Amino acid sequence: MWEYSEKLKDHFFNPRNVGRIDDADAVGEVGSIACGDALKIYLKIRDGVIVDVKFETFGCGSAIASASALTEMIKGKTIEEARKITNKDIAEYLGGLPPQKMHCSVMGWEALDVALKSYEGKGKGVEHVEKEDEGRIVCHCFGVPEGLIKKAIVENDLKSVEEITNYTKAGGGCGSCLMDLEEILKETRREMEFENKVKKCIESEIRPMLMRDGGDVEIVKVEGEKVYLKLKGMCAHCPSSTYTLKAFVEAKLKESVSENLEVLEG
Ligand code: FES
Repeated sequence: MWEYSEKLKDHFFNPRNVGRIDDADAVGEVGSIACGDALKIYLKIRDGVIVDVKFETFGCGSAIASASALTEMIKGKTIEEARKITNKDIAEYLGGLPPQKMHCSVMGWEALDVALKSYEGKGKGVEHVEKEDEGRIVCHCFGVPEGLIKKAIVENDLKSVEEITNYTKAGGGCGSCLMDLEEILKETRREMEFENKVKKCIESEIRPMLMRDGGDVEIVKVEGEKVYLKLKGMCAHCPSSTYTLKAFVEAKLKESVSENLEVLEG
């Protein structure tokens, strides 16, 4: 028998903000009834602030509680603040979710992401229309794309295929995607380890040196062994910034992380 917190039960039995907003400024729809869970959220936005939010869902108690919690968490928040909310925050707000139900918090996170993308004109507000953004579909039983699986692994520090299934439902049907999930897990963990080494080297060796001259550096993104960086402070205006990036930053990272690493300006 799964343990549910009092807060989760309260949000299940008394869900907040249920319904729809007919003149919503943004809508985010994820999941499908055929797969067992679906969630649609509606946002009313004024001057960059979410002034009203409603949801409709088809799912279990945890899905209802997660959606209800999400609406309470984002009401009155700016778009930037709402963007920072992850599935972990939803689960924490509810006092935790059973591992097998973590996918309900991921569904809320995804619905918010889809709604905000549609508001910013980067999508149509319907996840299944936008899935090409998230790469190939890995689990056909539940229509789970590679991008969502990777995002869940990174955000929640997932370490097993079983955890991936708990968080995304991928692998929870016929099982024919399990080998793919294993591969994605290995590759993503490798990328995470690489990025952590880069961060550690920047924190402990590179940043202190740059700061001596009033400079700094920020990681923009890491793609494979390509590290995109931005010099800041005095370094950003220095005429030899490209030289600093290549001759000092790249050389240090190659020495500490990987010989094949390449630093590019982000
Ligand atoms: S394809 Fe993933 S469980 Fe069936």
